[in-house]
Amino acid sequence: MSSKLAALQRWVDEVAALTRPAKIHWCDGSESEYQQLVQQMLQTGDLIELNQQTHPGCYLHRSSPSDVARVEHLTFVCTKTEEDAGPNNHWMAPADAHAKMDALFDGCMEGRTMYVIPYCMGPIDSPLARCGVEITDSPYVVANMRTMTRMGAAAQARIEREGTFVKGLHSTGELDPERRFIMHFPEELTIKSYGSGYGGNALLGKKCHALRIASYQAKSEGWLAEHMLIVGIENPQGETHYIAAAFPSACGKTNLAMLIPPEAYRQDGWKVWTVGDDICWMRPGADGRLYAINPEAGYFGVAPGTSDATNPNALSTIARDTIFTNVAVTADNQPWWEGLPGTPVTDWQGRPYDPANGPAAHPNSRFTVSAKQCPTWSPRAEDAQGVPISAIVFGGRRPSLIPLVFEAKDWKHGVLVGAAMGSETTAAATGAVGVLRRDSMAMKPFAGYHYGDYFRHWLSFDQPGAKLPKIFHVNWFRKGEDGRFLWPGFGDNLRVLQWMIDRVEGRAAGNHTPIGTLPKAGEIELDDLQLDRATIDTLFHVDHAGWTAELAAIGEYLDSFGERMPTELHDEQQRVAKALHDAAVTP
Ligand code: GTP
Ligand code: MN
Ligand code: MN
Repeated sequence: MSSKLAALQRWVDEVAALTRPAKIHWCDGSESEYQQLVQQMLQTGDLIELNQQTHPGCYLHRSSPSDVARVEHLTFVCTKTEEDAGPNNHWMAPADAHAKMDALFDGCMEGRTMYVIPYCMGPIDSPLARCGVEITDSPYVVANMRTMTRMGAAAQARIEREGTFVKGLHSTGELDPERRFIMHFPEELTIKSYGSGYGGNALLGKKCHALRIASYQAKSEGWLAEHMLIVGIENPQGETHYIAAAFPSACGKTNLAMLIPPEAYRQDGWKVWTVGDDICWMRPGADGRLYAINPEAGYFGVAPGTSDATNPNALSTIARDTIFTNVAVTADNQPWWEGLPGTPVTDWQGRPYDPANGPAAHPNSRFTVSAKQCPTWSPRAEDAQGVPISAIVFGGRRPSLIPLVFEAKDWKHGVLVGAAMGSETTAAATGAVGVLRRDSMAMKPFAGYHYGDYFRHWLSFDQPGAKLPKIFHVNWFRKGEDGRFLWPGFGDNLRVLQWMIDRVEGRAAGNHTPIGTLPKAGEIELDDLQLDRATIDTLFHVDHAGWTAELAAIGEYLDSFGERMPTELHDEQQRVAKALHDAAVTP
């Protein structure tokens, strides 16, 4: 490439002087470049070929056994002041963090190739998209970034045009957990990651850029970067509503994004379109509605539990051209994980499978695959303007108290509902209250700045002329006395999404309660589900005493963010608490 942006060339030169690689390779994102990398990794053992008859183009990567997940305790947000990072983040002063990281990077690429990866998060021609460059010494990272982002020449051309980009420096280092840090400098649009090859720590376009840095950028530029799936629901009349939903990790985003309608719905002509399964960038359009893009081009999904019974769409997506990380393999060299039929012979660490060593596939084993391979992939995922969002959904694992679905009164109430979001970690079968971890908007590990400022930013979208989506809360994880889930979930979640769309379209009256609007009997189709009366009552019950305690806990949680918590949210918490109180005294 001829005319490289001076700032980009200068940064690459500086990094090369620090890390001292044997070679520098600028990635063009081509198929031949990918194939060369694969061949090289097959030789070094970074990749292992899987059965090419059953899984063409599929490979296995085994990570270091101590490097298998995101490391929240080693992840820092390095803003100038500690206050700006907020109590929701670990903080280090930028000068100290740079010094610490640069000492680690000193000479770390000696004898290795340094890859320069220009990438674009979002459709390459989209005004909502943002670009970055990741420098890494890991060919595995290059191969994954090619699938997860729009990588290569087109991204570099956009960077040269715009002149700005997020700088991400990564080295796998020695994979020593004692020498592992993921540092973010949002004010400098910079990321430095050392000592891990794991996806969330090493594929810097994903959580580091598209959530932590982007959420910070979004605050100053008037948009939102969220941990949300985006799904299109097409009704039998051919009208499609797009819904964005935030659930914490492992609470069902990928599953909802690829939902398969129940048989009767399919026959009636309902269709589901997958736009994104993990990250959503949204901003107001000229008509006042929120428009969203999926900044990613692929899925980095959890393998265990993915099966024909739970998510057949995901299973057919990963039948070819997929990189598997830390799964097990069968006797005939097919990828395997818990939930699939068949038997593993080799576990995720390459040992002969022995149940005494635990699961055959690591519980956080993943697949990396192009989004376009999904049978329900929405062509609107390439729409430069994004898709208009009709509803925003929050949810988590709440074994008790929280009904199947309710609608927030308005935007302000919706922001409170999102802020109060949480998942219960344990659930006593007898209904004793579990340990609740608040995870506001599912962004606890990913908001790149103070949560108080983040909620204020959310509130700021409520402006004259805005046509904001309705906000809902769902709970697919309500449990009965026997500890079993009360709601069938998965495909049947479409019934709940249909009610949301009916509310948006003004077709369902709903039942107004102090906590929000719930479906009136008959507004959600339940007849063919064989749920007993008691189950239905529980799923749609508002327990006033329980909610009064919940509101008090939410109030304490808001207080924990101090001065920066917007007073509007405190007021809103008070309003709901008062409504509960008034409803209890008026018969
Ligand atoms: P990240 O990719 O880590 O952000 O997680 P995710 O939100 O995409 O989670 P995923 O879709 O991979 O689902 C995680 C777990 O939730 C799996 O064990 C699923 O089987 C389970 N799950 C998903 N949807 C439902 C549902 O509707 N009901 C029940 N009971 N379980 C569900
Ligand atoms: Mn996620
Ligand atoms: Mn997912």
